[in-house]
Amino acid sequence: MSDEAGKTVYEQLGGEPAMDAAVKLFYEKVLADEHIARFFDQIDMEKQLKKQKRFLTMITGGPNNYTGRSMRAAHRKLVQKQGLDDSHFDHVVEHLGATLTELGVPAHLVKGVADAAESMRDDVLNR
Ligand code: HEM
Repeated sequence: MSDEAGKTVYEQLGGEPAMDAAVKLFYEKVLADEHIARFFDQIDMEKQLKKQKRFLTMITGGPNNYTGRSMRAAHRKLVQKQGLDDSHFDHVVEHLGATLTELGVPAHLVKGVADAAESMRDDVLNR
């Protein structure tokens, strides 16, 4: 995701160090949201933060070094055993957008990242 000047959201945010701040802010929002916090009850947040940082790096146009499970595999159990659905997905996308907006990313680029997340909806929800 990049703008007319060819700058990716990743670069606009300030690259690698800014990813730490973005992931932290994003997770604060997710864990404070009672509609979705339960999905993270049993999760090792330390590891999760590292994964999400790599994920955010990828989705904002940074170096593509994501080597984790496919989106489908990573969320399969959540769909089958914990009822993960569109409403939860909507909340996560909203928190992602709010995080980037708070960090000063211009609206058209936030939209681009939201679109990228949107394109993964069916994979994440295993359908
Ligand atoms: C565009 C939407 C989403 C993306 C890009 C995304 C990305 C990821 C990534 C990269 C991982 C780590 C995979 C691995 O390497 O193991 C992961 C795991 C996880 N995600 Fe998501 N996610 C999305 C939506 C959601 C939603 C909507 C929820 C719940 C509300 C959620 C909850 C989780 C949980 C709990 C894990 C850990 C699963 C485990 O370790 O068994 N994700 N996600």
